[in-house]
Amino acid sequence: MCGIVGYVGGQSALDVVIAGLKRLEYRGYDSAGVAVLADGGMAAAKKAGKLVNLEKELDSRPLPTGATGIGHTRWATHGAPTDANAHPHLDNAGRVAVVHNGIIENFAALRAELAERGHALESETDTETVAHLLAETFSSCGDLAEAMRLVCRRLEGAFTLVAVHADEPDVVVGARRNSPLVVGVGEGEAFLASDVAAFIEHTRSAIELGQDQVVEVRRDAVTVTDFDGAPAEVRAYHVDWDASAAEKGGYASFMLKEIAEQPKAVADTLLGRIDAGGFLTLDELRIPDEVLREARKVVIVACGTAFHAALIAKYAIEHWTRIPCEVELASEFRYRDPILDAQTLVVAISQSGETMDTLMALRHAREQGAKVLAISNTNGATIPRESDAVLYTHAGPEVAVASTKAFLTQLVAVYLLALYLGQVRGTTWGDEIRAVVRDLARIGEDVERVLETMEPVRELARSLADANTVLFLGRHVGFPVALEGALKLKELAYMHAEGFAAGELKHGPIALIEKGLPVVVVVPSPRGRSVLHDKIVSNIQEIRARGARTIVIAEEGDEAVVPYADHLIRVPVTPVLLQPMVSTVPLQVFACELATVRGNDVDQPRNLAKSVTVE
Ligand code: G6P
Repeated sequence: MCGIVGYVGGQSALDVVIAGLKRLEYRGYDSAGVAVLADGGMAAAKKAGKLVNLEKELDSRPLPTGATGIGHTRWATHGAPTDANAHPHLDNAGRVAVVHNGIIENFAALRAELAERGHALESETDTETVAHLLAETFSSCGDLAEAMRLVCRRLEGAFTLVAVHADEPDVVVGARRNSPLVVGVGEGEAFLASDVAAFIEHTRSAIELGQDQVVEVRRDAVTVTDFDGAPAEVRAYHVDWDASAAEKGGYASFMLKEIAEQPKAVADTLLGRIDAGGFLTLDELRIPDEVLREARKVVIVACGTAFHAALIAKYAIEHWTRIPCEVELASEFRYRDPILDAQTLVVAISQSGETMDTLMALRHAREQGAKVLAISNTNGATIPRESDAVLYTHAGPEVAVASTKAFLTQLVAVYLLALYLGQVRGTTWGDEIRAVVRDLARIGEDVERVLETMEPVRELARSLADANTVLFLGRHVGFPVALEGALKLKELAYMHAEGFAAGELKHGPIALIEKGLPVVVVVPSPRGRSVLHDKIVSNIQEIRARGARTIVIAEEGDEAVVPYADHLIRVPVTPVLLQPMVSTVPLQVFACELATVRGNDVDQPRNLAKSVTVE
């Protein structure tokens, strides 16, 4: 939520910053702005709307070339998405510029105090107060990093700040509390950014910043301290993401590319997790096996699509381990005073590793003595850093706001975790574990096959361009798939979409069914728990009798559904618990195509941001 870039080095800072912002636009696109230090002064430009508006502004009113600069792409919190509220914010003399991600909770008091001292604030933002405070503090201490430390000690809330001062033209200073900030270290140049994607085309050497730290970067030096000025320990790491992974690579959208990348993402997430004897080895799990053996309850917290992965995890964990598993929306978790202790394993699932609701839930869990395991796609992000253990998904960078490949890899991770718990607790036989692992290893090919047969799904989506509502039904693990299908459609096509447990239909939602209403039904396998299958076939008949247009997702060879399906989408035969890996894919394609035909921006849906760093 909000993307930040800072640069100092031998290249044109403006070019580097704009290119970085392009890579971070998934974090928010309400406005964009830049500031560059050049010719002893400060030059800035900012514009409401997407980055392209700022680029047009810069074409008609170019900034002077300078070697130090900062930039911002905004997801609005305080103040409407206007030019005036866009970052960077400057002090009255125009010597300091600052960009910010987060919310400064005591900004009203700070603003009143500044106004009393004669400062004229021009925007409605909380950020502008920081520009004024920095300018004031700099004028007494003469050092931007020190000024940042002093100002941060006065701020409450969550913030990542990056600032420059015209009197220190070779320096960019950053500060971090809760929201992400990473340093990129190049040859004679340095970067600050919300995410490594902003600088991987220049350098793969990164430094992770911790909580409540201030960093000063120069061309050839990086200095990190805490807010009191004491030197801080930092972790340097190598970014192994390929720069091309953050490009569209010939696809019309990042989302289409990421949907297509799913077989590889699944395979990469499985890589190296199985030893020669076919047993699982989750080396990254720093939680000792004894602790996992003694866990009496698993609680999973997550938001959005990751929450749907958590719902599916419950079926797998309870089935393979017999440990009770609760799943809760991270934003609700800590407010109901959940019962947690040292024998509770809390699992926090987050693609970005930065979602504030999930972070706050995990902090609450740790305060209560529970062990926390993160499942995340982002090396070094706050959630994995603050957890006792981490299981990384290896989806590569996911740029489209609506999650696709990260979801499938989260499923792989939760299946692995469930099997591992079963392995250490002796509740799952070795040959069963090996069989599931073999099935998981094959499932990338199944996803590939689904992707090859998607033209009828796209055609169907196009035929529904004018529909107002689409309902989604599922049972067992198909229920979270239905919820995910509905979420995708809301996010991307801005249509009213709802997912229901098919059995719940008769308790209310069936009243919504009217002639021609499209209803997508995710049908469980007829093998194994065939009672589930039979019940959902009855549910399809019930809605069809009331005029629904049925869109049925069913396994190859499932003939029982054929008479009741107005549209039939086939998926390969998979073990019951793994079916979401294949049945989710047509729903992603369906939503993506509907969004496209309705003229929506698939990668950057309105009002959303990929990484939500406010509660
Ligand atoms: C945002 C995104 C969703 C995502 C959710 C959780 O709302 O728009 O696509 O599922 O955050 O994100 P996380 O990074 O924690 O998985």
